[in-house]
Amino acid sequence: MTSLETIFCGIRYENPFILAASPSTDHPDMIRRAFDRGWAGAVLKTTSVPGTPVPLKYPMISGLEYEGKRLLAMGNIDLISEHHADVVAERIQGLKKEFPQKVVVASVMGGKREDWQRLVGMLEEAGADAIECSFSCPQGTLGSKPGAMLGQDIRLVETVTSWVKKAAKRIPVVIKLTPQVSDIVDAALAVKRGGGDGVCASNTIPSLMGIDMKTLRPIPDVGGLSCYSGLSGPAIKPITLRVIAEIARNTGMQVTGTGGAMNWRDAVEFLLLGARNVQFCTAVMRYGFRIIEQLTDGLAVFMETHGFERVEEMTGHSLKYITTHDRLPNITKGFSRIDPKKCIRCGLCYVACRDGGHGAITMKKSRLPVVDREKCVGCGLCEAVCPVTGCIHIAF
Ligand SMILES: Cc1cc2nc3c(=O)[nH]c(=O)nc-3n(C[C@H](O)[C@H](O)[C@H](O)COP(=O)(O)O)c2cc1C
Repeated sequence: MTSLETIFCGIRYENPFILAASPSTDHPDMIRRAFDRGWAGAVLKTTSVPGTPVPLKYPMISGLEYEGKRLLAMGNIDLISEHHADVVAERIQGLKKEFPQKVVVASVMGGKREDWQRLVGMLEEAGADAIECSFSCPQGTLGSKPGAMLGQDIRLVETVTSWVKKAAKRIPVVIKLTPQVSDIVDAALAVKRGGGDGVCASNTIPSLMGIDMKTLRPIPDVGGLSCYSGLSGPAIKPITLRVIAEIARNTGMQVTGTGGAMNWRDAVEFLLLGARNVQFCTAVMRYGFRIIEQLTDGLAVFMETHGFERVEEMTGHSLKYITTHDRLPNITKGFSRIDPKKCIRCGLCYVACRDGGHGAITMKKSRLPVVDREKCVGCGLCEAVCPVTGCIHIAF
């Protein structure tokens, strides 16, 4: 029997799909609807000590478009929740009473040691199942050093983790890291030294969303000025996958994955590279809570197809195939094979190979591309640019 149940930091989740800290988790009514639909848990939007100013600026969300495809990525300049920890604590109490089986994680961000520890105390007391600490808000830590991310200072990562860990009496502490560091393994190891129970990998990526071609002002335009956004959504998935894999291969830390998961396939990739569960934000903001049905159905069918009975068996399954470039085998016999039945004669492979490859593709009068095996090295460019999935593959 296939079971979707997962355990992360000692906590049982009915399935590996949870809501990431986001606008979707900033109100209990929204979380209730998500839980009713089948989400296993939610990380509440990051909260702060009562009295902390939360100067939100609008518009706060912008989209990255490429060749007509909307929302390849989303940029946000959202900060933490407007609701402070006293309000969030009441909400946690209510949610845990109503949904004892669901996992409610409190996300916190503070400045001084007292702030972090007070936040943890209040929210653990209220019944939070775990604490997630945002060390990675790309709009910067509110307060002392705006623009800087705590997660970029390895020494501070260890110190603040240890403060939070000291304050948490029973529940696990998870640290949400930024991928914007020179070595993510160092950051995860600092969490380990600080006594953290797990890491959340990884938050949005500081980005500049673009320039408006009419006004020549950067996006988003907030009254004529702009700032860097946190990039999320499909475009950042490859970065997240690398970050999860690096942490899983080198630190032994338990990982909850976030950053670019849009569907069950993405989630499967997160799990195969070492995540214990997967958090969703952009996908939910775009398609709504109902995607949980596709996530659970898709994962269940995938597991049956591949003979996995438990999600745990998948965790890190694909890590063994990752090595360094110098250890990759030397394959010299690869060549591109084009399926004439699938080819739509668009010529993209021909142009790409001519101007970016080895000039190994010629076009017949019928516009059918033909590969010269002598010239072809099997680089993969033609397959990457082909608009028809499965039309071109590299054969050996
Ligand atoms: C509008 C918006 C608000 C967010 N607010 C928070 C937050 O309060 N705390 C936090 O830790 N992460 C926050 N995030 C980051 C998400 O939790 C998530 O880690 C990130 O968006 C990457 O996942 P995704 O690609 O599935 O969106 C926010 C993201 C967005 C888009």
